Amino acid sequence: MNKAIAEHLRVVADFQPSNADELEAFRLKYLGKKGVLNDLFAAFKSVPNEEKKEYGRVVNQLKNAAEQAVLRFKSELEQSKPLHSENDLTKTGDHVFTGSQHPVTTVRNEIVDIFKRIGFSVSEGPEIEDDWHNFSALNFPEEHPARDMQDTFFVHTDPDWALRTHTSSVQVREMEGNEPPIRIIAPGRVFRNEAISARSHCIFHQIEGLYIDKNVSFADLKQTLLYFAREFFGAETKIRLRPSYFPFTEPSAEMDIWWGLETETDYRMTKGTGWLEVMGCGMVDPAVLEASNIDPKVYSGYAFGLGIERITLQRFGIPDIRMLFENDMRFLNQFKGVI
Ligand code: PHE
Repeated sequence: MNKAIAEHLRVVADFQPSNADELEAFRLKYLGKKGVLNDLFAAFKSVPNEEKKEYGRVVNQLKNAAEQAVLRFKSELEQSKPLHSENDLTKTGDHVFTGSQHPVTTVRNEIVDIFKRIGFSVSEGPEIEDDWHNFSALNFPEEHPARDMQDTFFVHTDPDWALRTHTSSVQVREMEGNEPPIRIIAPGRVFRNEAISARSHCIFHQIEGLYIDKNVSFADLKQTLLYFAREFFGAETKIRLRPSYFPFTEPSAEMDIWWGLETETDYRMTKGTGWLEVMGCGMVDPAVLEASNIDPKVYSGYAFGLGIERITLQRFGIPDIRMLFENDMRFLNQFKGVI
């Protein structure tokens, strides 16, 4: 083979440009009008006849190799080059999808803020709880139906452990670990083994309140709840306390707020009474104080607990509790900018 052509083949095979200028110089040198290949093709006439076939083969081989090198390096250099638009400061920004706060979170934060303003601090406890903190220390008798499998999700390997059925378990932890005065609210998830429907779910959120000090009376409880109701539902809100029963409070009550009885919805929501049930409450039972090593002769206190979902449904006119847990973007997007 012609020595000069063999050398060109080697140069082309080894060619490795580090930038576009080097590639262009290479292209001009081999494929340009006055380039190596045109010269070689022009020299074809003067090649002796018996060498023409071999000469044509290697010159074409060189031409293909040079063309392929140019194509390959051209696309490689283009890919590594930053796109012009990335540096274009006048380009419109990409659309950024923002999230929004879940309505349950909004209502929880609002309630927490209301109690913080009168000196309550936030406390939390575990979602997987032992029998002592969820039931026994709260004065639930052994045979109490709430301990039944129907209501509680037990950890199947150890029935002493369960998903907490209420945030009252945090009361116990708080009293065990601290000296009075205690003034806390405890928001969190709770779990009940119940059928899921438009009105109830097996997972929901509660906020617990606990105040323990010397000389705490039922009047303190009532005034605190009235303050909360007026902050949350409006300054004219009326409340009433109805006698009720919880194993861990004595006396116990349900707090209702006056909702009104004008429309058909009012009838449905208040079951025809005009009153809306908002929370359970009462004076902490002396047996509960004792179980947590607080002397009931020195200290007294009140506790209350409310469900967040139900008042969230009322606040936003949401017809079905399940919507709060489905993570459906069509539902959640409606709260963008609203809250
Ligand atoms: N733990 C009760 C419930 O889940 C609510 C409650 C809390 C009642 C504190 C009284 C005092 O229904």
